[in-house]
Amino acid sequence: MPRSHHEPHATDAVALLKRDHAAVKKLFARFEEAPDTDKQALAERICKMLTIHATIEEEIFYPAARAALTDEELLDEAEVEHGSAKELIAKIEAMRVGQPKFDANVVVLGEYIDHHVKEEHNELFPKVRRAPLDLERLGQLLAARKEQLMSELGLDGEGDAAEVRSARRPRRKSTRRSLRKTVKARRSRRAQR
Ligand SMILES: [Fe+2]
Ligand SMILES: [Fe+2]
Repeated sequence: MPRSHHEPHATDAVALLKRDHAAVKKLFARFEEAPDTDKQALAERICKMLTIHATIEEEIFYPAARAALTDEELLDEAEVEHGSAKELIAKIEAMRVGQPKFDANVVVLGEYIDHHVKEEHNELFPKVRRAPLDLERLGQLLAARKEQLMSELGLDGEGDAAEVRSARRPRRKSTRRSLRKTVKARRSRRAQR
C-alpha cells in the first residue's frame, strides 16, 4: 500500500476512521448553515455515512480492538453510544424537513457524534495504536466493507466537495435542467435551418 509522505499512517484503519469523522463533521457544519431546500439531502447523507461508519466499526474495528486490548469497558461504552446514535438516525430518516424538531434532531445527533468521536480519538485510537494490531490490514478490510456498503446504500464519492455537490443538487433536477438545454438547442438549430 502506498503511503503519503505527510501522513505516515494514511492507509491504516485509524486514519480511515478519522477521515470519516472529519467528513461527517463538515456535513453537520454545512447542515446548520444550509437553506431548508438543502437540508433533506444533507441529513440523508449524514445518516447514511454514519450508518456505514458505525457498521464497519462494529463488524471489523471494534472486535479487533476488543481482542487486542484489555479495556473491555471502553468498547462496551462505544457500542452503547452507537446504539443511541442509531436510534436518533432512524428517527431522522423517518422525518421530513420542515417537521417539528427535524433540525433539532440533526443538531443533537451532531453533538452526540462529536462526543463519541472525541472518545475514540483521545482514548480508543491511542490504545489501538500501541496494541499489537496490523492496522494496515485492518484498514484494507474496513475500506473494502465501506465500499460495499456505500454502493448498497447508493452513496457515491468520498471527497467533501462531491458530498456537498450531490447534497445540494439532487440528480433529478440537474437531469431536468440539461434536458431543457438540449430541447432549447434543438429548437434553435431547427430555427436556423
Ligand atoms: Fe464509533
Ligand atoms: Fe468512529
